[in-house]
Amino acid sequence: MMKRHFLLLAAAFLLFPATGFSAPGNRKKDSHTVVTVPEVRAQVISVETDGVQWLFNVDKAGVLRCNHFGKKIAAPEQFLDFTGARTRNGIEKYGDAAMAYPTVGGRYSNEPALHVKYADGYHNTELYYTGHKVSAQDGVTTTTIFLKDYVTALEVALVYEAWQKENVIVSHSEITNGGKKPVELIEYASSFLPVLADKYLLTHFWGHWAYEMNVEHEVLGYDKKVIETRIGVSATKLNNPAFLLSLDTEEYSERHGEVIAGALAWSGNFKLCFDRTICRLNISAGINPFASSYKLAAGDSFITPDMIWTWSSNGAGQASRNLHAWARKGGVYGGDKINPTLLNSWEGAYFNFNAKTLTDMIDDAAGMGLEMFVLDDGWFGNGEYARDNDRAGLGDWELNTAKLPEGIDYIASYAHDKGLKFGIWIEPEMVTRKSNLTNAHPEWVVRSPGREIYTSRYQWLLDLSNPAVQDFVFGVFDRTMQLSDKIDYIKWDCNRFVNSFGSDWQKDQDRFFVEYVQGYYKVLRRIREKYPEVIIQCCSSGGSRVDYGQLAYHNEVWTSDNTDAVCRTRIQYGTSFIYPASIMGSHVSIVPNHQSGAVTPLKFRFDLACTGRLGMELQPKDLSEEERVLADRCIQSYKQYRDLVFTGNLYRLVAPEEDRYALMYVSQDKRRAVVYDFNLRYESRDIIRTLRLDGLDAGLRYKVRELNTDRPCWWGNEGCFTGDFLMNGGFNPRLYRTYASAVFYLEAE
Ligand code: DGJ
Repeated sequence: MMKRHFLLLAAAFLLFPATGFSAPGNRKKDSHTVVTVPEVRAQVISVETDGVQWLFNVDKAGVLRCNHFGKKIAAPEQFLDFTGARTRNGIEKYGDAAMAYPTVGGRYSNEPALHVKYADGYHNTELYYTGHKVSAQDGVTTTTIFLKDYVTALEVALVYEAWQKENVIVSHSEITNGGKKPVELIEYASSFLPVLADKYLLTHFWGHWAYEMNVEHEVLGYDKKVIETRIGVSATKLNNPAFLLSLDTEEYSERHGEVIAGALAWSGNFKLCFDRTICRLNISAGINPFASSYKLAAGDSFITPDMIWTWSSNGAGQASRNLHAWARKGGVYGGDKINPTLLNSWEGAYFNFNAKTLTDMIDDAAGMGLEMFVLDDGWFGNGEYARDNDRAGLGDWELNTAKLPEGIDYIASYAHDKGLKFGIWIEPEMVTRKSNLTNAHPEWVVRSPGREIYTSRYQWLLDLSNPAVQDFVFGVFDRTMQLSDKIDYIKWDCNRFVNSFGSDWQKDQDRFFVEYVQGYYKVLRRIREKYPEVIIQCCSSGGSRVDYGQLAYHNEVWTSDNTDAVCRTRIQYGTSFIYPASIMGSHVSIVPNHQSGAVTPLKFRFDLACTGRLGMELQPKDLSEEERVLADRCIQSYKQYRDLVFTGNLYRLVAPEEDRYALMYVSQDKRRAVVYDFNLRYESRDIIRTLRLDGLDAGLRYKVRELNTDRPCWWGNEGCFTGDFLMNGGFNPRLYRTYASAVFYLEAE
């Protein structure tokens, strides 16, 4: 009997092991209890500017959906029950709701904004609305929506800053671990936007060194499109963290149709994901989760970078103008100021200079009416590590006493005495293998144990995630500023990206990419606290770090190492979609061009450089007398109208993908404008193209005057014409020779 009982018990155990199930009739109470989510008041939350509205609705269950982004709608409360779906049947059930900030978990199964792994190994997060608050200051209304997961106590605040006049909404998320154990943020987007249209045309920007910001238009199909970078620093070398999205069309238009534009303010690895589902297009934007899962201790918060959004009903041109207006008002450091014209020593002298070379260049710059001289690479390092070429010296930021025994203050004072400001180049995040710094602090180099530390331009990257390196980099800037009290401008360069990533300092290697960028911003904040007035240019082998993250601290960028004026039409055109002309360092260089070998007329080079922040980057002695006269003339005229370049509204008239490139800037009151026209290829002298100007006041009469020439190319030169005439087909400058160019100044009577 005993044996039979034992066998029965053993059989029962095999059938219903102790790990959960009990025998029928003998069932243990199931411990799975569902946490109750408190009901809330159903409501619509409207985040709005003068012309753009972002609408959210909260249902009684506390689910926050996003159901509109675009034109302002009267009585938005009508959106209360709107699901934002092209079809309602089964949409929620099959995981395709228009969530405001979707998470991995619950019914949602598409690209998430947030993916969290908890200490118990589970991945589910379901966020519910707990409240929101609104505040307003200086033309910016900030709405913060609070969400919570009632099971794990994870909290998310979604922050939306609505810039009223600029029609820009800047958004980010703040993720707080309200639980008692650490959590792992696997994916943590700044912002998420579900968009409802029938067709989507994506415009984005790709490139390479000296080939930045190529414009790509791409119709999105039912799939995922990801734009990202994983190279850590110099992160915009291959892709820019920005885009435009034309709705309900497959045709790109400057002037017509609905366009959404977005730009992420982050100078490191980023990810923009366009996930087209059956119902809509979900856009998520944020830090790239690549090798960057972020452990959040109990009670800690993670603040994601800003995503800048705008919307236009007048094509891509207006979307760009909105972003530019925002950039001038708040997105760019000193964005409302006019930066000086300059002569940079790089292409004119490279590493080969002494004090006489520089003072001669300063004399020439002053003679041509330029306003600043910038001493580029080559002024530091000594002995075997002298910076006489790019193989040595980075990291050793002492004056090269063999090359410049007179000191930096001598050069800076010479410039000031001639009425010029003075600027100087540094590359503080880098170290060459051959340097005292490498010998002293090998542990500061980004590297991975046992692996080759690859060089690029003979240099390694310093680990800016390490606070000691942050102090060093700040110190480089600070000590450089102490070389003279006449330093007005710093060109901060960054000539390589991340390979074999790793940090001797980090305990958690997953933090490296994120904390590098955070470290970079910490240093820049310290610099701005101490040096609020100095003009800082962000250079990264040209335009490999062009984003609104660094621009919060920098006044301008070096748009490209490619100074070929024809190549620059394309590069600056691409840059103009997202970034204002005021930030584009745009220099006249010598011919044959040092990068391309191309020969273009000096006038073409000047006219093009004058579409941004004008500079020169050549040895002035290489110019003929005749060229010097033209240079003086172009610089003088630029200084008279450049406020239009810095503060006016940009209208792109003809894209350089065609045989012509034309653009114009119009003053805010529409009374003044400057028009640039470039012929890129000869076709026939009989073909005269008509430019339709834009942005003028149709009813005003403008006097049109061609600048920088004695042989005007338009029959109407010096005449007065209505804005209506100029915008609707009357303006046809005769520009047919290859690389012929013209600049017209318009002023209302
Ligand atoms: C790369 C920059 O883009 C150039 O303008 C110049 O500053 C060089 N570095 C100097 O090494």
